[in-house]
Order: sequence, then structure tokens, then C-alpha cells
Amino acid sequence: MHFCYNENMLELNKIDHWRSNRLPFFLKAETGSTNADCRVYAEEYDGDFIFLAEKQNAGRGRRGRDFYSPDHGFYFSMCVNAVSGKEILYTLVCAVAAAEALEGCGQKTEIKWVNDLYQNGKKAAGILCEAIRSNEDFTLKKVIIGIGINVSEDPFPEELKDKAVRLGGIDRNRLAGLLSDALLKWLSAPEEEVLREYRHRSFLIGREVLYEINGREKSGRVTDINEKGNLVVLTEEGEDVLASGEISLKNWK
Ligand code: BTN
Repeated sequence: MHFCYNENMLELNKIDHWRSNRLPFFLKAETGSTNADCRVYAEEYDGDFIFLAEKQNAGRGRRGRDFYSPDHGFYFSMCVNAVSGKEILYTLVCAVAAAEALEGCGQKTEIKWVNDLYQNGKKAAGILCEAIRSNEDFTLKKVIIGIGINVSEDPFPEELKDKAVRLGGIDRNRLAGLLSDALLKWLSAPEEEVLREYRHRSFLIGREVLYEINGREKSGRVTDINEKGNLVVLTEEGEDVLASGEISLKNWK
């Protein structure tokens, strides 16, 4: 049997078949960034909604990096009204939901703190959460949850070849439907449950890691992800509690 690519094109009616939520869902063949699309649309629409694109020309990653976003990929952003006090949880929720949705499509991944998904030691998906704040008092109004999953058949560029993995055989319509439901489910789940699931799916717990903190290189064994989403590392000198942004995780041993 010949593989027919068109059978696997993103289509709203097929996505709808796989989701039980009815959030507005915008599908684009090509865009700059689905996170940027959400930011623009949030100015005119106050509810929650989703953008999904086949290709991004200006895909954004964390720390101001670009996100490689070739055609026939999976670039998904959901914009949700923020629940104050739950800020720390967003990042954890996204990783858990994405891993669960991928599992529903036959692909097992693990969460590499803070919120990359890995398979066999290589990055399969990246997550970028962005805040929309009130102009008046700077309080958090909405969160844009952006998830990029490596499903495109285009070859990785040289700099990603050894670090990234492509997840094959995925029905992207199914993935989009399952992911939207999983995000809504985990966004309203109790914090302890999110944390339990996050720990369960963690790639780093129990592993030796190298990291840089206050300009010093250190190593230790990851023992936990605490209730603030911080990484707890046991070193010869005692325990380090690492918040994302304060450290750079260089590798695992
Ligand atoms: C990272 O790995 O640094 C995060 C990557 C996040 C990429 C996704 S793709 C959908 C959404 N739109 C973007 O421009 N970025 C996120």
C-alpha cells in the first residue's frame, strides 16, 4: 500500500472527531508563530481558543531562540484565561498534557525539566508559555501555551541533527484533538495530581546531572521536582534547589 500524504493533512473536521471540547480552533497552512497569532487574537476575543499551523516562518523558542518549524509539522498554541496563583503550574501542566496526548498517539516520551519532551535522550517537543498581562496593574490575564512537536519529515538542520528526534507515524489530527482535551483536563486538575503525574513522567529524577549555578559548575543526582516545580539535586555538599532560569542544565550522565 502506498502512503498518501494528503490523508494525513490537518483538517478541522478530523480534529473535531478527536476532541470533546469546542474551543474556537484556527487552522493555518503557514504562519509566523502560533503564539504570536494568539496574542493578536486575544485582543479581540476574551475566551479561550487554539491556533494550529502546518508550518511557522518565525517559530519562537525559549530564551529568545528560534524554533525550527518546517512544513507538515505540529505547531500548536492554546490561549487560556489565567487562574491567578496557578502560574507555576502552567509549565508543568503543558508538559504532562503533551506527553499524555502523544502517548494516546502511540509515542512514549519523557519530560525533561522544565518542559521539553524527550525520547531516547533526544528532544521531541518544546514548550513555550507566554503571559498576557494587564496594561494597568501588570497582573496575569491570559497564558499562551505553545507546543511544537517534531513530526515533520524534513531533515533536521546540522545543529539539531544529534539533539532532536522526529516522532513518526502520528495522526496529527488525532494529536491536536487529544492535546486540546488533555490541556483542559490538566489545567483544571488539583496541583498535587499534576505534580504526581509530572514526577511519574520525569526523565531526570534519579539521573546524575551537570549544571551551572552562580557561575559554578556542579553535579549531583536529581531526587525530586518540588511543589514549586523546582528541581531538587543532591550533591556531595548537600541539596541544591534549582529554579528554571537561574541555572543551565548542561547534561545528564
Ligand atoms: C523551546 O523548545 O524552546 C520551545 C519551543 C516552543 C515552540 C512552539 S511551536 C508553537 C508555538 N509557537 C511558537 O512560535 N512557539 C511555540
